Amino acid sequence: MASGSHDAPVGDALNAAIDAFGAAGIETPRLDAEVLLSEIAGLDRAALIADPGAGLRPAQSRAFSEAVRRRLRREPVAYILGRKGFRRIELEVDPRALIPRPETEHLVELAVEREPGTLLEIGVGSGAVSLAVAEELPGCRITATDTSPGALELAAANAARLGLADRVELVEGTLPPGNFATGIEAVSLPGAGFDLILANLPYVADGVALEPEITEWEPRSAVFSGPTGYEAFESVIGEIAGAPFEVAAIGLEIGQGQDERVARLVREAGFTRIGVRRDLAGIGRVVVGLKQGAAGSPD
Ligand SMILES: C[S@@+](CC[C@H](N)C(=O)[O-])C[C@H]1O[C@@H](n2cnc3c(N)ncnc32)[C@H](O)[C@@H]1O
Repeated sequence: MASGSHDAPVGDALNAAIDAFGAAGIETPRLDAEVLLSEIAGLDRAALIADPGAGLRPAQSRAFSEAVRRRLRREPVAYILGRKGFRRIELEVDPRALIPRPETEHLVELAVEREPGTLLEIGVGSGAVSLAVAEELPGCRITATDTSPGALELAAANAARLGLADRVELVEGTLPPGNFATGIEAVSLPGAGFDLILANLPYVADGVALEPEITEWEPRSAVFSGPTGYEAFESVIGEIAGAPFEVAAIGLEIGQGQDERVARLVREAGFTRIGVRRDLAGIGRVVVGLKQGAAGSPD
């Protein structure tokens, strides 16, 4: 990468980065180079291509060299940029939490469709799901939990930055304590429960080979569940089944091929109507469970 006192052409910097990323086995070398360079040069991607002779100032050249160096260590582009778009919001991201994935937007779609008055999200991570729902459903009261203090800090920072801190209560653990922890009497309190629970839990079995961007940078506890990949589902669904509060509906993001077994767990927890939401490729992404009498369809 060019550096020094003279302006270096963006086209040269871009091509050198694409070559280096390609040689390192990075899956999308051109896209990654363009995204990083457009951020640093302050130009959109089309402008980079249209005007390869445009100059990069020395400080920009140095910043781009540093970004390329980080990417060659397989750090994800979102961590290098420090942010990721999700639905209509942009989240700050860093290795304290999983980078929100596009497929997780199915959980938000389920919430938007059902318009819950109260939502519990288990495993909030960066805050993506809860904050997107808070932004899209102004009437929804949200409680969000995570067992990772680092993820909760990041979610709190995102909530504050997006002006949504008063809409999402963050709690360390799996289920919220509060009134519910006082015991069975709490169940009879009006409003003691949730219209919807959403969770994108870790669902990859230990030992499954994933890209270094995931295994070396994202939190292990956000990705891997245990030897079978179902451990988090089993323990969380078990806790929900034994919780001293009512739940009308649940939506759980799943990995490819996990629909049948997760659907069985959800049914065993007392949800009588079960459906699987699929993406455009027909891959099951969310298992939905509805209790007897809950409105709407699980499919
Ligand atoms: C796959 S990440 C999802 C993060 C975020 N919801 C998203 O979709 O981008 C799973 C999150 O669940 C948390 N987690 C794992 N087991 C949990 C449990 N039993 N209770 C609460 N959170 C848990 C992890 O710390 C991690 O932040």
